[in-house]
Amino acid sequence: MKKRWFEKKVEEFLLRGGYEKPELQQGFLKLDSNENYVISKQFQSDLISEAKKNSDVREYPLGGVERLIKAISKFIKIPSSMIGVGNGSDQILDLILSNFSSKQTKVLTSKPTFGFFEERCKLYSIPLIALPFSNDMKLNIKEFTKQSKKANILYLDSPNNPTGFQFSKNELQKLVKSFDGLVIIDEAYGEFSNYSLANMVKSQNNLVVVQTLSKSFGLAGLRLGYFIANKQFTEAFNKVLQYPYPLSTLTIESGISALENSQQMKDAVRIIKKERKRVIETLRKYNTFEVFDSEANFVLFDAHGSYQRVYTALSEQGISIRKLGKIEKHEGCLRVTIGTKEMNSKFLLAIRDWLQ
Ligand SMILES: Cc1ncc(COP(=O)(O)O)c(C=O)c1O
Repeated sequence: MKKRWFEKKVEEFLLRGGYEKPELQQGFLKLDSNENYVISKQFQSDLISEAKKNSDVREYPLGGVERLIKAISKFIKIPSSMIGVGNGSDQILDLILSNFSSKQTKVLTSKPTFGFFEERCKLYSIPLIALPFSNDMKLNIKEFTKQSKKANILYLDSPNNPTGFQFSKNELQKLVKSFDGLVIIDEAYGEFSNYSLANMVKSQNNLVVVQTLSKSFGLAGLRLGYFIANKQFTEAFNKVLQYPYPLSTLTIESGISALENSQQMKDAVRIIKKERKRVIETLRKYNTFEVFDSEANFVLFDAHGSYQRVYTALSEQGISIRKLGKIEKHEGCLRVTIGTKEMNSKFLLAIRDWLQ
């Protein structure tokens, strides 16, 4: 029987495969998704209990997003009129892509880049120009600027997932100023780095900076992202593109509470940065891996031909990290999230055991 048009479409979607999530392994030490375990489960649980008290889920959260935006505004010291929110930064990126791009708009990014973003471009058949990282896992600013002349949209995760690389602030500012199209700077890991470009939206009309509470605030399960952009872009996004109620009442109330208690996040970030240094230094001491610098809450290293064996050995010890394999000339890339001191020590011990 002849396939109907929508059945063909379904088959087309299935052929794409979609975004690959890490495997769910019960009881594993989870160092595969760049989550933040330094903030305790109890702290987050108290936050949500408090949010529950302020919630009446019989009602739509009318006015809730506006109150959340006010709390974000106070936290980042940028006017509310320049802020929008989404169901994770994933949803913000998706809405920007699906509404601003087409088969005719070229997007320039790095290779590798954030996997979800790349998948979404493929889904919408948006042509991608992807500039590869060099052997030392850095991007060449001159080359990136040169390539940008061919593009309508720039997307950079800054720091980059999975490499941990970030352009210097000066380089990135120059790039944004030199570009005529839309620039999306994804700062999902921004708090773990040394700068943010958020304030630049005040003078730069083509810039959208995307941030999230998933990483530094340790609230990945809440699904709360936000962006900062000029007033007109923000108004169009909030009034026209975004759903009327994109966030649940509980997300809104918990988000406000987390932002009002941001000292917890700042303390966690300080610990994670210190631990990142320890993990990098320890891995480098073994002289077996090539370990790359990182400005994020994870570390990328090349275990060369043994990466599969390292991954399996860690799995056998109940530790889950992210297996990336080949990135340009690097054959066996693995990415490990920086967890609590205890988690990182377990990971490092398992690596030491494997090497002996
Ligand atoms: C670069 C980057 N952007 C965005 C996200 C998604 O964040 P959210 O949880 O806010 O959707 C991630 C998550 O891994 C990421 O690595």
